[in-house]
Amino acid sequence: MCGIVGLVGEIVVSDLIEGLEKLEYRGYDSAGVAFLRDSSLCVEKNKGRVASLKEKLSELLNERITLGIAHTRWATHGEPNDINAHPHTDCQSKLCVVHNGIIENFKELKKRLEEVGHRFGSDTDTEVIPHLIEEYYTTDLVEAVRKAVKLLEGSFAIAVIHVDHPDIIVGTRKGSPLILTVGNGVAGIASDVTPLLKYSKDMVFLEDGDIFCVSKGGFEVFDVVGRKKERKPTHIDWTYETAQKSGYKHYMLKEIFEEPSCVAATLSGRIKSAKVHLPEIEELQDLLASSKTLKVVACGTSSYAALSFKYFLENLSDVCVDVEVSSEFRYKRPNFDENTVLVAVSQSGETADTLESVRLAKSKGAKVLAITNVVGSTLMRESDHTLLLNAGPEISVAATKSYVTQLVLLYLLGLKIVELRDQWNERCTKLIDSLLRLPEVLDATLSRTEHIKEVALKYKDFQHFMYIGRGLGYPTALEGALKLKEISYIHATAYPAGELKHGPIALLGPEFPVFAIAPFDALYAKMKNNMIECKARKAKLVVLTSDDCEDVREIADDVLSVNSFSEQLYPVLMAPVIQLFAYYIADALGHDPDKPKNLAKSVTVE
Ligand code: M6R
Repeated sequence: MCGIVGLVGEIVVSDLIEGLEKLEYRGYDSAGVAFLRDSSLCVEKNKGRVASLKEKLSELLNERITLGIAHTRWATHGEPNDINAHPHTDCQSKLCVVHNGIIENFKELKKRLEEVGHRFGSDTDTEVIPHLIEEYYTTDLVEAVRKAVKLLEGSFAIAVIHVDHPDIIVGTRKGSPLILTVGNGVAGIASDVTPLLKYSKDMVFLEDGDIFCVSKGGFEVFDVVGRKKERKPTHIDWTYETAQKSGYKHYMLKEIFEEPSCVAATLSGRIKSAKVHLPEIEELQDLLASSKTLKVVACGTSSYAALSFKYFLENLSDVCVDVEVSSEFRYKRPNFDENTVLVAVSQSGETADTLESVRLAKSKGAKVLAITNVVGSTLMRESDHTLLLNAGPEISVAATKSYVTQLVLLYLLGLKIVELRDQWNERCTKLIDSLLRLPEVLDATLSRTEHIKEVALKYKDFQHFMYIGRGLGYPTALEGALKLKEISYIHATAYPAGELKHGPIALLGPEFPVFAIAPFDALYAKMKNNMIECKARKAKLVVLTSDDCEDVREIADDVLSVNSFSEQLYPVLMAPVIQLFAYYIADALGHDPDKPKNLAKSVTVE
């Protein structure tokens, strides 16, 4: 996955760099820019992060330009080096291209182009694009792009500039996101909205097959046969400031501290007269009231939010919630039909396996409900109905506030389903009350950050960690282990505590600590037995519990605690604790938690 940005209008070189900095979460092994200066193309690119590119361009940062494109890369074809970094040019260095995605038939195209005299300099799949456009170019850049695109197979979002056209950016998308905006004196395109927010909040979410031409005064969209298409902007409420670090050392830390306000935004307008109000799913009501099974697909952290939803809803109703990771679901024989509701959970709304699962489900007539954070994302556009997290932009690769808001929104959905199935009872009314109090109780969890940091630092030098939990504590354990491994690179694994004796306990010892999710709930007594077993193996024990648990200090080496609260809501209250624990370890080890190695924010390829 890569990030692309293009700006046209009254800009300076550093505007392009600033745009790239917003997209660096999408890939950061090399970066580059191209802009027009004195009617010639100026291209700078290098291996490494945007910061080194910025340094290379330091003399030019305030230079006024009218047009430029930029790219931050996560290598798929060709190792990350200066040559393979984007932008890529044609033989005459008259046009330049940035690309996000994969051109699957690049080998055949490259061979054909070489046969007619094109010379290639890189190992990338992308380089066929400028050469193909060069091949078709006479005077009309849109026409040349249109003809070139017809030959491309795979997924792509592309932006092109040409020296003969100093006031337009042309491009297209298929399978990779691309957003366009026209603001006051500046128009832009980008892989997500964050680099564009400073120019306008009205965003056009381009659709697959769209070919666009944007100038500072406006834009046009065509289909692949050249017919004009109407594309209306969507107004985005996110502000430019929410996409900044605001004094925090990392986006991850800032995003954890935003959790109380994000949860308030997720809840806003969705609880009325002590019942859940979700007008977005009105058309699904009959199915949700009658289906025996609800299917849920997601990846990574989103799949752990989905698993919590399963425990939550199955405990309150007679519906069976079938949760699967999308990368498995999409290759299975579909055993569902038009009476099935598939809930697809994805923060970004661009995760390739989740999108393919949605397509499979739709091909069988199932109704798809998306739970996403990104307005206009592919998931939102391809689903029948959408519930938005309203968490604001999440920049850090590590999912934090999106996880917490997914839990809250899925719980709201769960309560709605309980109501639709006539299974509402006193517990549900109490849960509504507790949900409304969440922002304030999450604040209380965050007020314990110093203690969480202190405990985390004691464990930073261990090579392994075992997370355990029961019931709703189990998905929390899975998420705790994922967070720790993805940002600190410490090996962490998670098990339902009752499974320990079936194998994993063999690993435990003084070098292999245990992180137990053990609130004082209905399963605490069972958890206590498991924790005693761990201690008997001389494993260090960190216990994440609730304030009403009195005896845990007798067994734990370290105790982390949250306010005593509704049992079902502990996954929400405990989320910041497992996130901060992982964050402080990663930071102490000198790793950048916002950009963990080998990972990207949205996994738009299989
Ligand atoms: O955008 P999505 O929610 O579909 O992303 C799913 C996973 O790729 C994501 O949650 C991943 O596991 C994160 N790195 C976790 O922090």
